[in-house]
Amino acid sequence: MAKRVAIVGAGVSGLASIKCCLEEGLEPTCFERSDDLGGLWRFTEHVEEGRASLYRSVVSNSCKEMSCYSDFPFPEDYPNYVPNSQFLEYLKMYANRFNLLKHIQFKTKVCSVTKCPDFTVTGQWEVVTQHEGKQGSAIFDAVMVCTGFLTDPYLPLDSFPGINTFKGQYFHSRQYKYPSIFKDKRVLVIGMGNSGTDIAVEASHLAEKVFLSTTGGAWVISRVFDSGYPWDMVFTTRFQNMFRNSLPTPIVNWLLARKMNSWFHHANYGLVPEDRTQLRVPVLNDELPGRIITGKVLIKPSIKEVKENSVVFNNTPKEEPIDIIVFATGYTFAFPFLDESVVKVENGQASLYKYIFPAHLPKPTLAVIGLIKPLGSIIPTGETQARWVVRVLKGINKLPPQSVMIEEVNARKENKPSGFGLCYCKALQADYITYIDELLTYINAKPNLFSMLLTDPRLGLTIFFGPSTPYQFRLTGPGKWEGARNAILTQWDRTFKVTKTRSVQESPSPFASLLKLLSLLALLMAIFLIFL
Ligand SMILES: Cc1cc2nc3c(=O)[nH]c(=O)nc-3n(C[C@H](O)[C@H](O)[C@H](O)COP(=O)(O)OP(=O)(O)OC[C@H]3O[C@@H](n4cnc5c(N)ncnc54)[C@H](O)[C@@H]3O)c2cc1C
Ligand SMILES: NC(=O)c1ccc[n+]([C@@H]2O[C@H](COP(=O)([O-])OP(=O)(O)OC[C@H]3O[C@@H](n4cnc5c(N)ncnc54)[C@H](OP(=O)(O)O)[C@@H]3O)[C@@H](O)[C@H]2O)c1
Repeated sequence: MAKRVAIVGAGVSGLASIKCCLEEGLEPTCFERSDDLGGLWRFTEHVEEGRASLYRSVVSNSCKEMSCYSDFPFPEDYPNYVPNSQFLEYLKMYANRFNLLKHIQFKTKVCSVTKCPDFTVTGQWEVVTQHEGKQGSAIFDAVMVCTGFLTDPYLPLDSFPGINTFKGQYFHSRQYKYPSIFKDKRVLVIGMGNSGTDIAVEASHLAEKVFLSTTGGAWVISRVFDSGYPWDMVFTTRFQNMFRNSLPTPIVNWLLARKMNSWFHHANYGLVPEDRTQLRVPVLNDELPGRIITGKVLIKPSIKEVKENSVVFNNTPKEEPIDIIVFATGYTFAFPFLDESVVKVENGQASLYKYIFPAHLPKPTLAVIGLIKPLGSIIPTGETQARWVVRVLKGINKLPPQSVMIEEVNARKENKPSGFGLCYCKALQADYITYIDELLTYINAKPNLFSMLLTDPRLGLTIFFGPSTPYQFRLTGPGKWEGARNAILTQWDRTFKVTKTRSVQESPSPFASLLKLLSLLALLMAIFLIFL
């Protein structure tokens, strides 16, 4: 009999999990507390309890070629960075294409997931749900937890002396929907993550004055990267990753700083990250330097004190009148339906082997999908996790002994830098390509670049030097997709189809032609010398 798998949440990770279960002949039942799929990507006018919330203007910060499910490219007429409404449309197309909807029970909240009394033998779980006020319960052979980690706001009011006396309005960025509330107001946004920066920039078009307060500073990069290419298609390549990972961290950090400063010098804009030993997720914003240089956004240090109608910043004596404070201070996460003995969250980490399996359970029948911060898109990352998980649930892949898993988890908690490459030492951070490659190795789906360079050099070179698009995770192994090779070789066509909407004639530069001729001559000379 097929194993029954309960999937909690029908966002990006839940949808991938349903599909992976079906592919491996498992029987998934997905419980989604809200009334539709899409999770975070489904914008609603009002914040819903227990589900991540977006503001209307959110556009993805990883591009469509890097953010798709590995066997389902975005429609080619979609923009490279996808507005939330189109992102949701894409997820709906995915669910329809793979017939996932019939496996989802909407308006059904998972209240508890507990081990069955014979868990050590069966590995089974009792899942208690609530649907329109009615409780239900069922036994499952396995559970995949896909509830995301951007729902519970982190609001450290204690760190802001005087906030209780503030007479203006304050709220967490989770509550923010439209910029109209900022019209003619003096606005302070606290926290320079992607939310804070987006909100400050958006407010600056309407507000009287906007301050963006940052304790740590950040690298700000534009989606429009080198020569206009999407940033992640340039940054996330196997070649670049190998190069970065073979250099000592201080050199990589220096090179990174040079790169980041090539758009604008961060120190001159008061933005330069204070702690450069650890990677801080870059802020993707195409407008911020323009808003700063035109005086529409003022970058400020941390807050010393909040008063009735104003704030005082550290290291600046002047009191600034403020009407609205937005706390863009990020999120915490928890699993309220799980007992702490199953997954314990401490200091922003959960004790999960490879960010997925509770390391101490005697049976590997519970997995968390999408609880990771790779420097790359979470969509293919969660999907690859799910591909491995379903094979573990089926018993095809085995986990190492508990002691090995616990050791790995503890080592990660210690956050010791390796000394090479970027330092992914903060909680949940991971090197995107290395992490996915590791999971692909477990399921025999990692592309073998060496043999590919011999058998299909065009593809091999594109994979090595080109963007690490998810299609390369489907070239081989279980779940192999016949369209993968073609999708890789046409990825740039889809990228520029939507930007080159007016056909232009490029006049060839005589200098470039001369350079090409000289290179050819040098190559011929080298060949001649080798065989002489
Ligand atoms: C503004 C913003 C922009 C982002 N842009 C990008 C981007 O460009 N690229 C990228 O890769 N990532 C991006 N992210 C990260 C984002 O988290 C992922 O893209 C993705 O949405 C995560 O999907 P998920 O399925 O893991 O979680 P979610 O999308 O949060 O889905 C979780 C689902 O679980 C349901 N649920 C929760 N608890 C229960 C319960 N007890 N019972 C039943 N159902 C439950 C929720 O209702 C929800 O539908 C962005 C995040 C934000 C905030
Ligand atoms: N367009 C997009 O695609 C988009 C938009 C928004 C969010 N996102 C994603 O959503 C996720 C969450 O982003 P987020 O910006 O909401 O959260 P975040 O990345 O966690 O950033 C929160 C920021 O709050 C500040 N902060 C934290 N604790 C603080 C404290 N005690 N006092 C003062 N400041 C404090 C820090 O900024 P300082 O060091 O500057 O003070 C921190 O960087 C990220 O993965 C992000 O990439 C994407």
